[in-house]
Amino acid sequence: MITKPKGTYDIFGNDALIYKHIESIITNYMNYYNVGYIRTPIFESSELIHRTVGDDSDIVSKETYDFIDRGNRKITLRPEATASVVRSLIENKLYGNRNDQIKYYYFGTMYRYERPQSGRNREFTQFGVEVFNSPSVVSDAETISMAYNILCELGINTTIVLNTLGDAKTRKNYIDALKEYLKPHLNDLCADCQRRFESNPLRILDCKVDSDSEIFKNLPKLSTFLSDEAKNKLNELKNLLAAMDVEFEIDETLVRGLDYYTDIVYEFHNEDGLALGGGGRYDNLVKNLGGEDIKANGFALGIERLILEIKNILSQEEEPISNPITAYIMAISDEEKYQAVKLANILRLNEISTEICPNDLSLKSQFKLADKLEASFLIILNDEDLQKGLITIKDNYTKDEEKVDENDIVDYLSNS
Ligand code: HAM
Repeated sequence: MITKPKGTYDIFGNDALIYKHIESIITNYMNYYNVGYIRTPIFESSELIHRTVGDDSDIVSKETYDFIDRGNRKITLRPEATASVVRSLIENKLYGNRNDQIKYYYFGTMYRYERPQSGRNREFTQFGVEVFNSPSVVSDAETISMAYNILCELGINTTIVLNTLGDAKTRKNYIDALKEYLKPHLNDLCADCQRRFESNPLRILDCKVDSDSEIFKNLPKLSTFLSDEAKNKLNELKNLLAAMDVEFEIDETLVRGLDYYTDIVYEFHNEDGLALGGGGRYDNLVKNLGGEDIKANGFALGIERLILEIKNILSQEEEPISNPITAYIMAISDEEKYQAVKLANILRLNEISTEICPNDLSLKSQFKLADKLEASFLIILNDEDLQKGLITIKDNYTKDEEKVDENDIVDYLSNS
């Protein structure tokens, strides 16, 4: 048997219903927030991904699927989609008018060569939103509330963990202080931190290996370096979130694993501290990739992690997600089957979810199948009625049964 590659999965059955449920709620919310859809390629030039995410990030240094294609091009399967959306914005000149806020959302597979475990796959799905021409902190509040409201609508309990990396001056002053403090302890740090000391010192705060060590307990605090402007921005954001009843916690050690963030950063954690999503502001990325000086922010949620959360809730509530159909058409003879196919086609074209049984099964078995599909109505065809232009409809809950003129069947089911 040929099996699926490690770290990938098939989605079917209950998981597929949950997946589609999540997708449909997200689509609704994207309409409420007036966000347009964007689809970008699953693979991009390696240069785009490496430059955007950062050569020193865990993602690029350990997790990207890089390969040379048959035309000798360096290609990378996207580990995230912010890079692609920014590339598309620049390439297709989607900037719009300077006053336009440009908002895109995506829903698609990403690839990271990670050690597979529950909620951590090599192929996974992200829903994300990127907002451009959005220098105001109001836009951060809007994007955060977007993700928060979607998680709430899905019934998922989440804690928003918020931090600011401050403006460029703040970050520079802080990095200088951090390096000065860490320099004498360099040999005691893990190999990753030693590397980050030169290439990306802020990421040292994210270290899971050294985080409990004595050295880390006395690290200089980023908050004490924040400029008044950065402090005011964070305060404004807190007020805006509070105005929308969005709850959050501040975590000064949150820096996120991608290089492009510049200011506000955040993550959505579940009760065990696992990140369901994350995002932040990346004001320099469009310019750094050759575009105009456009401020931006955004987030992405991990769909598989949301599926796990929802499954967890459902197992506690013992309330399986189902997708009941409206009508189940029962037929035995060839003529009844012919009419069943015809009628099913008409019902479906009238937006009535309908199922028939194409196989030779007894009526008893067909009743069982209809129950399994939670059909609201059973349409029982028989040759005698059909000749008179009548159709028997049975309400599968009340068990009431009546004969309806075949021309009235759509109205009957639509109005029930
Ligand atoms: P990220 O934090 O790398 O951010 O990923 C966002 C979410 O994707 C994570 O919180 C997690 O739920 C999910 N995720 C990441 N890796 C895996 C995996 N191996 N298996 C399953 N789920 C995973 C970004 O990707 C940024 N592009 C977000 C963003 C958009 N920032 C600004 N705009």
